[in-house]
Amino acid sequence: MLVIKDKTFQVNGVVLSYDDQGIGHLPILFIHGFPFDKSMWQPQLDFFRRTHRVIAYDIRGFGKSTAGTEEVSISLFADDLINLLDALQINKAIVCGLSMGGYILLNAISRYPERFEAIILSDTQCIADSDAAKEKRYTTIQQIEAGGLEDFVKGFVKNIFCEETLNDKNDLVEKIKNVILSTDTKTITGTLIAIAQRREMCSSLKDIKVPSLILCGKEDTITPPDQAQFLQCNILNSRLYSIDKAGHLSNLEQPDEFNQHISNFISAL
Ligand code: MLT
Repeated sequence: MLVIKDKTFQVNGVVLSYDDQGIGHLPILFIHGFPFDKSMWQPQLDFFRRTHRVIAYDIRGFGKSTAGTEEVSISLFADDLINLLDALQINKAIVCGLSMGGYILLNAISRYPERFEAIILSDTQCIADSDAAKEKRYTTIQQIEAGGLEDFVKGFVKNIFCEETLNDKNDLVEKIKNVILSTDTKTITGTLIAIAQRREMCSSLKDIKVPSLILCGKEDTITPPDQAQFLQCNILNSRLYSIDKAGHLSNLEQPDEFNQHISNFISAL
């Protein structure tokens, strides 16, 4: 089996790191959420590389990708995604984005619809931040700049997982904490600004013509199930599944069910 880990490609002044595993004519590409890295897709890479070519990459500044000097935005991240497809000579892919990964995916498909065979929107939403949400992010930035990442991580982790995960899956919780703590503070604060400034993508949902799968943890409080429902109602060819005993990181909290939904979706394409 073809297993390539931590490959790199250079684009627009940054070096992006990606894993590329398995074989198949229609690759599945995964975009991580904030502030994680490609390792959050390990259960999906392990499962799907047996039957498909699977790719996960680190968004600039995260994981093993360099940050560059440019101010980041969701559009810039979406450009990086298209550049990665170009570099790998992939015309079309099935692309899955979780949370901020979904923001990037919605931005990219609105501009480059021809590059997507199907999409998977996981624990994400199409709305822009409200003024209150923006304010909260700017306060978080000030707190991080004044006191570092420790307090941010404690609060963040409590919000992203459901109660059951927090009680029973300590290894997972610790792993995610460590991923966040090993991320550069400037990447975290710069990306918080990018997320706060993202534009709404709800008005482009009607233009999505490819089969779309929407997944959401039933206990996701960050991008809650009603946001997933909104996506489903407004994307023509879409299906929604809510995942029990999962919060915002449904792919890690309930990997078997998450993978099964994707597997069924892909088999029906
Ligand atoms: C994410 O998981 O990518 C973020 O929580 C998204 C957000 O804060 O809007």
